[in-house]
Amino acid sequence: MNKYALITGASSGIGYHFAIKLDSLGYNTIIVARREERLKELAVKLINDPVIIPYDLKDEDNCKNLLEKIKAYNIEIFINNAGLGDLNLFNEMDINKAIRIIDVNIKALTILFHGLLNQFINNNNGIIINVSSIAGLLPAGPYMSVYYATKSYVTSLTRAVDYEIKNKYNIKVKALCPGPVDTEFNEVANSKFKLKSISPDKCVNYTIKKLKSKRIILTPTIGVRITELFSRFIPIKLLLYFCSKNQKKKK
Ligand SMILES: NC(=O)c1ccc[n+]([C@@H]2O[C@H](COP(=O)([O-])OP(=O)(O)OC[C@H]3O[C@@H](n4cnc5c(N)ncnc54)[C@H](OP(=O)(O)O)[C@@H]3O)[C@@H](O)[C@H]2O)c1
Repeated sequence: MNKYALITGASSGIGYHFAIKLDSLGYNTIIVARREERLKELAVKLINDPVIIPYDLKDEDNCKNLLEKIKAYNIEIFINNAGLGDLNLFNEMDINKAIRIIDVNIKALTILFHGLLNQFINNNNGIIINVSSIAGLLPAGPYMSVYYATKSYVTSLTRAVDYEIKNKYNIKVKALCPGPVDTEFNEVANSKFKLKSISPDKCVNYTIKKLKSKRIILTPTIGVRITELFSRFIPIKLLLYFCSKNQKKKK
C-alpha cells in the first residue's frame, strides 16, 4: 500500500521543500495551496505520483472538503504548514488581511489538525507537524501582532494535544518553530528580516531528522534555541523591544 504525506502550503517555501523531501523518501504527496500552476510545476519534479488539491484554506468548507477527500489515502505524515503574516501597526492593518491570517493560521490549521489526528487515532499511527514559528515561543510581537498571536496559539495547541495523546497512541504531534527562513513569507507580509535567515531546505532537513524524536518543539537553529531559553528569564518589556526590532518594512 502506498504511504502518503499531506502538505498544506506546498506551492512555495517550507511546504514546497517538505514535498520534495518527503517524495524523495518514498511518500506520495498530497499537495495543497491556492496556486494550482505552482502545484503543477512542483508535481513534475516529484518521483511518486502526487495528488494536487488547489484549495483556499481560509474557507472552512474547503478545509472540511479536504478532510473528506483525503480519507481515501493512507496518510502517515501531515505537515500543517499553510500560513501568512503581515508587518504593520495593528490599527493600520487591513482588517480583511488580519482576518485571513486568523482564518488560515488558526482556523484552517485547527480543523485540519483535528481531522487528521482522528484519522491517525483510528490507524494508531501518524506524525503531525504544525508549523508555528519562533513567534510562537515569544510573548508578543509588536508590528506583527496578529501573526505572533496566531503562532502562540499554534504552539499552545500543539503542546496541549501532545499532553493529551502522549503514551496512548503511536502518534507524534510537534510544533516546528523556525526563525527567519528564506521563502516568499516576506513578500506576503511586506517585511524584511533583520536577522540572518536559513534556507527552507535546512529547515526541512532538520525537521525530518527529528520526526521520530521525543521533542515537541522543533527549533532548527541554535539562535532560536538560545532565544527561547533566554526569553524565560528576560523581562517582558525587554523581550517586546527585541521582537519589535526583528523585522522591518520592505521599502
Ligand atoms: N519564512 C519564515 O521566516 C518563517 C518562519 C517561521 C515560520 N514560518 C511559517 O512557515 C509556514 C510556511 O511559510 P513560508 O515561509 O514557506 O512562506 P511562503 O513561501 O509564503 O509559503 C506559504 C504557503 O502557504 C500557502 N497559503 C497561504 N495562504 C493560503 C490559503 N488561504 N490557502 C491555502 N494555502 C495558503 C501559500 O500558497 P498559495 O499562496 O499558493 O495559496 C504557500 O504555499 C507559515 O505557516 C509561516 O508562518 C515561516
